[in-house]
Amino acid sequence: MTKITDAAIRRLEKTARAAGSRAYAPYSHFPVGAAVIGGSGKVFSGCNVENAAFGLCNCAERTAIFSAIAAGERSVKAVAIYTPTALPTAPCGACRQVINEFGPEAVVISVCDSKNRIETTLSALLPGAFGPGDLA
Ligand code: THU
Repeated sequence: MTKITDAAIRRLEKTARAAGSRAYAPYSHFPVGAAVIGGSGKVFSGCNVENAAFGLCNCAERTAIFSAIAAGERSVKAVAIYTPTALPTAPCGACRQVINEFGPEAVVISVCDSKNRIETTLSALLPGAFGPGDLA
């Protein structure tokens, strides 16, 4: 597992919490914020962005990762997810696959409005993943 300092984790969580307030979730009323640490060490945030055509809704994690990649990052070291709930929310299957593309070793942290939290790794959430190496 990539070693990330406690200070970096705290900063990432704070960024994910702030991003949650920018969620566009008029249909689910389930706002989500996310933040990622790119390979360069820079932090990027994202929120879920829903659409009246429900199938086009984008999760917060993917918004954050796509933002990092669009800014020039090519890897992700850590992902934090915030939901304003009593229990932490784990990333959905699609987001696990996207995290795997750029951060197969990434640390994944979920935080919420209580002290409950999940701190795990992408490889624990998506064992035996299909990834870039399978196409080599
Ligand atoms: N959502 C996320 O943003 N991340 C997740 O990991 C789970 C689900 C969003 C998608 C949708 O906008 C809302 O939460 C309800 O599923």
